Amino acid sequence: MSAARVAVVFGGSGQIGVPLLRRLAADGWQVVAVSRSPRPAVAGIDWALGSLERIPDLPRHADAIFSCGPSDAFARWLARGDASTPRVVMFGSTSAEVKRDSSDDAERAVAARLREAERLLFDAASRMDIAATVLRPTLVHGAGRDLNVTRIAQLARRLRGFALPSDAIGLRQPVHVEDLAAAALACIAAPATAGKVYAVPGGETLPYREMVARILSALRPSPRLAVLPPGLFRALLSAARIAGVARDFNDAALARMREDLVFDAAPAMRDFGYAPRGFAPTEAELTPPA
Ligand SMILES: NC(=O)c1ccc[n+]([C@@H]2O[C@H](COP(=O)([O-])OP(=O)(O)OC[C@H]3O[C@@H](n4cnc5c(N)ncnc54)[C@H](OP(=O)(O)O)[C@@H]3O)[C@@H](O)[C@H]2O)c1
Repeated sequence: MSAARVAVVFGGSGQIGVPLLRRLAADGWQVVAVSRSPRPAVAGIDWALGSLERIPDLPRHADAIFSCGPSDAFARWLARGDASTPRVVMFGSTSAEVKRDSSDDAERAVAARLREAERLLFDAASRMDIAATVLRPTLVHGAGRDLNVTRIAQLARRLRGFALPSDAIGLRQPVHVEDLAAAALACIAAPATAGKVYAVPGGETLPYREMVARILSALRPSPRLAVLPPGLFRALLSAARIAGVARDFNDAALARMREDLVFDAAPAMRDFGYAPRGFAPTEAELTPPA
């Protein structure tokens, strides 16, 4: 009988990491997952207490290493050269491109950090003869833990309604955490993915307004959606900011509601059979875990 393959996972407690750990264990991998906090025992998973800055004792060799946490810290750790593995899959973000030319300084800095992490990863991988793949998700949802789709649901529940400007028609591709976990595993079995960066969008492209309408219609009772003239929406938003509400909803985010953020899934479909689902959130998926 051959020995189980060994996977090391960073970010295994995160919204993408949780389904990835479950899938690895179900596929018979021996999994070591690093967390900064003690974690309850889960069958098939060995939790190692540590972080990317304080690496715990890890297996001397791993068949694959997955990064579902901060990509910049992961790439810096890999570049130190302590890892022994032939295979790395790292989650990055489509924000690397979307926020590249943002009007907001902080957003441009995030985009630059994401691109630098990818550069560092591929440099280190080519020095160390590692086949590395980067997956860039779009709007992540499905675990009730994201800051976009779930946040809209929470705000709508609290306010018993939701408002959008009528020009919030930029296209979106929300992607489910289970499809991302499946994508990370599928890369391991697909040699063509080595050395590549893939966009991993959701399986449906829909206008921002329609995305919000579907979120609201999944809730019980279903909050009302008010579609306002853009000028009136901006005036209300300014008032809300002055009152200390919606401070993190900046002008760049408002402008993006009009922009299409669309990515091509065809390379991922071709190279590793990526098959993401459409956008049909359930109330449970829009509810933060207890
Ligand atoms: N959420 C989105 O909409 C979205 C969109 C595009 C791309 N992404 C990318 O996809 C990846 C996963 O996202 P996610 O939303 O699943 O993440 P998440 O739920 O925020 O979880 C992040 C994980 O990273 C771990 N972590 C944080 N700092 C760490 C450190 N210094 N050392 C080691 N581990 C650390 C945390 O683990 P512990 O707390 O257990 O230590 C946590 O489980 C990230 O690279 C993210 O940028 C996310």
